[in-house]
Amino acid sequence: MPMNKPVSADQNPQPSAAVAAQIDALVARYPNPASALMPSIWAIMDELGFVSPAGVDLLTQKLEVTRARVQEVLTFYTMFRSEPQAQYVLQVCHNISCHIMGARTLIAHLEKRLGIRLGETTPDGKFALEGVECLGACGMGPCLQLGKHLYEHLTCDRVDELLESLRRGEVPRADTERELEA
Ligand code: FES
Repeated sequence: MPMNKPVSADQNPQPSAAVAAQIDALVARYPNPASALMPSIWAIMDELGFVSPAGVDLLTQKLEVTRARVQEVLTFYTMFRSEPQAQYVLQVCHNISCHIMGARTLIAHLEKRLGIRLGETTPDGKFALEGVECLGACGMGPCLQLGKHLYEHLTCDRVDELLESLRRGEVPRADTERELEA
């Protein structure tokens, strides 16, 4: 989202005081405050689901970094968002190793089950389906990332189980949990 565009309150929620305090605690761990950028982004993502312009402001103040630096990191990593997102963003790796292990079949199955194409969001805003490049789990493909959760060695049956759980509002235990902060 261009930062010079006016944004509505919904698009620009303020991170809470608790998140601000969490960022202070993260900054205190490092000699250089800027080193806390990624876990601080996660702290905001965990609360808001994305990093709003107000969240970017908070990061620039607390971490003494420029808006450009925050935007660089936000736009480089596929798991970070600077706009409101679907409740569950399913990111399927379609790079070479996962492709060989059946990512295309998995994506086609997800498209059928969700009634959307890759890159789209379901009309109820619950699911988005994205193709992403290597998730660093090439030996465990095909794999899918949901926030900090990585599901590996996926089959169509496992994907159906995952969707059923998410529709009940339950995020099933992942094969790898990528918790980046305490
Ligand atoms: S190619 Fe899929 S995780 Fe590396």
